Amino acid sequence: MSAQLTTMRDLVRAFTRAMNLISPEIQNHHEKVSYFAYRLSEAMGCSESERRLTFYGALMHDVGSVMTEGSLSLMDIESRPSELARTGALLLRMFPSTASLSEIVERSQSPWEKLKRLPDQVKAPRRISQMVHLADTVSLLLKEDVSVLNQVGEIRECIHRIGEREFDPAVLSAFDALCERESVWLDLLYRPQLFLDDMPDDRSVSVDETIRLTELMSRIIDFRSPFTAMHSAGVAVTAQTLAALAGMSQDECKQMRIAGNLHDIGKLKIPKSILEKPGKLTDEEFNIMKEHAYYTYILLRDVRGFDWIAQWAAFHHEKLNNKGYPFKLSGDQIPFGSRVMAVADVFSAVAEERPYRKGMEKQKVIEVLRSDAERGALSKPIVELLIEHYDEIDALRDAESRAASKRYQETLKASQGD
Ligand SMILES: [Fe+2]
Ligand SMILES: [Fe+2]
Repeated sequence: MSAQLTTMRDLVRAFTRAMNLISPEIQNHHEKVSYFAYRLSEAMGCSESERRLTFYGALMHDVGSVMTEGSLSLMDIESRPSELARTGALLLRMFPSTASLSEIVERSQSPWEKLKRLPDQVKAPRRISQMVHLADTVSLLLKEDVSVLNQVGEIRECIHRIGEREFDPAVLSAFDALCERESVWLDLLYRPQLFLDDMPDDRSVSVDETIRLTELMSRIIDFRSPFTAMHSAGVAVTAQTLAALAGMSQDECKQMRIAGNLHDIGKLKIPKSILEKPGKLTDEEFNIMKEHAYYTYILLRDVRGFDWIAQWAAFHHEKLNNKGYPFKLSGDQIPFGSRVMAVADVFSAVAEERPYRKGMEKQKVIEVLRSDAERGALSKPIVELLIEHYDEIDALRDAESRAASKRYQETLKASQGD
């Protein structure tokens, strides 16, 4: 048993905020869907565990959107539902802790007419998928700029017009009951994060489980673009190994792995056109790129138990010589773990393969790292430590990168359908 690190609620909340970065135009869509689906599950008289599954399933229902082109708008969601749901289900199936949500997400866009013919053993997830589907539709119909109580009648009519082909009659009558409760609609528009902030399931999560859960997040960050498809995986294993060689404690090393998984989580805010630009970025583009480290910090600092992880992850572009970004830290202001992370990041970025270039050869990588250390951008002792154990670390990084790249290709293929 490893020590408790944080809580499920804090992790899920950070994750949801990260998802919101991808498409700011769909304001709090995930929160709204999870809020409304949870209320539906209460109105249906679901058990506590079913309600929790409904809540998490609803939060994750659009997780597949990370692999779609560009920024996601409401139109995209409506016009490519099955691809989104399939990709999301694939991502969730990769991990034991989220596998139970996979079926829910996979069917979250399926009409009742199709679902009702499924065999009995999928009955429970089927009902949850329907609640997510209805809540998703409600969220898409909801306008931000019209008084919410003046919209209920119209939304109700619209849902019934779509009707029993699309929705289970039992879920429809739970929806009708909710239409009578003003506070539900007021919460939906004005406080959709209500349950996220005050979730009854405030379960504690160990360091080891956090590593696994953040691997899912890192895959979502990486899979956004083939240019980054294996990056976080390589950084995480490099950072953890370097930390161990540098004498950090076992617990700290595990936290370094988590920080490595999440160091680029703020990249969800960066448009794909910038992430995928093979050449040099213009000054304007680079300014946008700089936002990612800032958002990594904003997302992680509110997670309980992540005091060090947030700094180790978010300060990976700070430089000892004060020429980094975005906090302009220098020298002693940069924690040791952040210096390790910076070396792991540069090393992985130059050594890994990208669609437009091969990974650099060992000698060239060493040259790059040493010249960065000379300029005072990277820590000299940590760079030398990496060079001393180069082959061992590179083999680990390469294995992680290859595995990540394989998973990416498989997910991409499956999401495009066959
Ligand atoms: Fe970065
Ligand atoms: Fe990075």
